[in-house]
Amino acid sequence: MRTQVGIIGAGPAGLVLSHLLHLQGIESVVLENRSRQYCEERVRAGVLEQGTVDLLCQTGVGERLKREGLVHGGIELRFGGKGHRIDFRELTGGKTITIYGQSEVLKDLTDARLAAGGQVYFEVEDVSVHDFDRTKPKIRFRKAGKVEELTCDFIGGCDGFHGICRPAISKSLTVYEREYPFGCLGILAEAPPSSEELIYAYHERGFALLSMRSPQLSRLYIQSAPDEDIHQWPDERIWKELHTRLESTEGWRLIEGPVMQKGVTGMRSFVVEPMQSGNLFLAGDAAHIVPPTGAKGLNLAVSDVRVLALALAEFYKQGNRDLLNQYSETCLNRVWKVQRFSWWMTSMLHLFPDASPFDQKRQMAELDYVTSSRAGAQTLAENYVGLPMDQPT
Ligand code: FAD
Ligand code: PHB
Repeated sequence: MRTQVGIIGAGPAGLVLSHLLHLQGIESVVLENRSRQYCEERVRAGVLEQGTVDLLCQTGVGERLKREGLVHGGIELRFGGKGHRIDFRELTGGKTITIYGQSEVLKDLTDARLAAGGQVYFEVEDVSVHDFDRTKPKIRFRKAGKVEELTCDFIGGCDGFHGICRPAISKSLTVYEREYPFGCLGILAEAPPSSEELIYAYHERGFALLSMRSPQLSRLYIQSAPDEDIHQWPDERIWKELHTRLESTEGWRLIEGPVMQKGVTGMRSFVVEPMQSGNLFLAGDAAHIVPPTGAKGLNLAVSDVRVLALALAEFYKQGNRDLLNQYSETCLNRVWKVQRFSWWMTSMLHLFPDASPFDQKRQMAELDYVTSSRAGAQTLAENYVGLPMDQPT
């Protein structure tokens, strides 16, 4: 087998990359070790930045997103039982975010790739990368039990945090990492969202978040222990905790419903530098992880592959490698700003087990500042809707 760009992973990074390359006339093959159904049923991110929405719409995969996505012009920060709205439209010159599940984004992209005759292979096994420091890298894998070798010009390492691409180049990487002393317990509930917009709550028992996937589906989170045993959390206990942490003095009511899915994830900030080695390029979670509080993981994956697709197009059209050589530097500029924002949102809204009385007072002052100062609120808003996409220099 032979292609121009071999892409490992059919998550947001891999599929958007394949789609953007196709629009530039560049051929790719996507190799994914899970089934299509598994990828599309996994409950993960739900908030799309304005730039992500624009990119999907401008490249022809935004029809359903435009129809079904919920456009939000702000979020609420809730503490001391009171809500404070951060008005994105007003603070960012009209920008918004859109609620549209990662699973829906993946369905739209997979449909588009397959309809265009794209090669996306699910359920491949034993994927490994070879010769990526030479001009003809190879990817070996098994498909339907048969060993295959894909020769390509470049490899897109879009295989997420637990993939094989980052370990394959680990010798040349520096890791920057921070683990948080808490985890995130999330549920998907068949209940109409209790608020039109997302509510981020700081409470003395810990953080809680009300989000949604549709007018019928709520997505809710509570801060938990990093290694929390989900079996210790029957649905009634989760709802009780959500009621306590989200409670408000303003007559607001949390709507309950059957819990369809629940799980706990650890929280970490993680970056490797550089994001490339020879002709292998890491993108998305393969290169960096953010804690979910800033809703940035998917958006960052999309902005990486936008940079990569432009650089590859420049190479194939002009024979110029400059943008490819700058790939890591261009991406990391945004990655670190998004890391900073995600760390800041997490620190501001979570209860740290070792927080001193001084830390707690400072944290309340920070929430008060962000919600009462236009400059403070604007800082949050411009990061939340998404910083402008960097152009490579
Ligand atoms: P992924 O989506 O992880 O895609 C990588 C793909 O590669 C996967 O399909 C995987 O199966 C495949 N793969 C892995 N190894 C191999 C291999 N060896 N061979 C072939 N294929 C392989 N972000 C938010 O912004 N908000 C959220 O609420 C949120 N919730 C999350 C909840 C969970 C449980 C997790 C794990 C992540 C969450 N994220 C969230 C993060 C967000 O989903 C990711 O940042 C985003 O999926 C990154 O996209 P990606 O394409 O880089 O990686
Ligand atoms: C989600 O809807 O899953 C979500 C929303 C906002 C976040 C994190 C997760 O900050």
